[in-house]
Amino acid sequence: MNRLVNQPANRPANRSMHRPDVILTGIKPTGSPHLGNYIGAIRPALALARRSPEAHALYFLADYHALTLVKDPVRFRDLCHELAATWIACGLDPDRQVFYRQSDVPEVFELSWILSCSTSKGLMNRAHAYKAQVDRHTRGHMRSGGDVDAGDVEAGVNMGLYSYPILMAADILLFQAKYVPVGRDQEQHIEIARDIAARFNRSFGDVLTLPLYLSDPSTAEIPGTDGRKMSKAYNNTIPLFGSREQLRRAIFGIKTDSSPPGAPKDPGTSLVFQIYRQFADEDRTDTMRNRLVQGRITWKAAKEELFDLIDGLLERPRAVYEELMADRSRIDRLLEAGACSARELARPTMEIVRQAVGR
Ligand code: TRP
Repeated sequence: MNRLVNQPANRPANRSMHRPDVILTGIKPTGSPHLGNYIGAIRPALALARRSPEAHALYFLADYHALTLVKDPVRFRDLCHELAATWIACGLDPDRQVFYRQSDVPEVFELSWILSCSTSKGLMNRAHAYKAQVDRHTRGHMRSGGDVDAGDVEAGVNMGLYSYPILMAADILLFQAKYVPVGRDQEQHIEIARDIAARFNRSFGDVLTLPLYLSDPSTAEIPGTDGRKMSKAYNNTIPLFGSREQLRRAIFGIKTDSSPPGAPKDPGTSLVFQIYRQFADEDRTDTMRNRLVQGRITWKAAKEELFDLIDGLLERPRAVYEELMADRSRIDRLLEAGACSARELARPTMEIVRQAVGR
């Protein structure tokens, strides 16, 4: 179930009144896709499109967002292909949904500049990702006993990271997107995009649609193998399309408490169970919960079942993934065709925006 949290009602800009609702989301290719990406982002985004057949759904690779982190061109290309193949293997249908690579749509960057000219620097100072980076540097300096001055702590922040939310706003506003399905960690970015759109509209008229985020409370926070949020940065991910052996190793690496084999186990604090329930249907989830509570299953057996469940579900997607990765020119062709459609959809917005600023 999706929810709209603490968000004002959406009032579409006049000009988009007669167009279908636009659902849009992107992921940046900064690491090999993992179960957290699937559960937290890909699955809910695809489900939303399935539930809203009358809407336009757009999904994209936020590849230039990844450049704030990825500095290795070969790796960068691999990550883009992996992410594209992942979306399709997980059920994205490029014939029904617009699927493209951000950097193939130059209008994104034009709009990004225009928006940055009416966005206050103070708004960017408040963005979590930037603040977290500054915090890390501040702590690093304090640990090494140095004085903390503003220049030093910002040295590790590239301008891409700083203006990241503006580029993200451009991604969204370019298509007058109304709904943006994202994980919890991205909610602030959508609020910033709203602020940016509202500010632009105050100066130039009712041009841009104010977007709303959609996040799913039951899936938004999938734990990694150590209990923190599943993230490449924490090295606690379970790969989606690695080998079966990698999958098994990651699942057997999930932290468990020290309950002995026959002891009752608490599903509420069990990472194995938290992950299991994301994949199992209700019956299987109930059965697993009962077996844990009644001490009728060991952690080892529970992990074995989790592995079988996920491995079974991934069997077909893995075949699609591998086929695509073996023919990367096919991925490129799909993305190029998607970019053509995306640019078509972006054209009316850019026309109004350019006109609004007086170009
Ligand atoms: N910031 C998002 C992430 O880290 C990726 C992203 C870029 C995005 N542009 C977007 C998500 C627009 C939704 C809408 O995964």
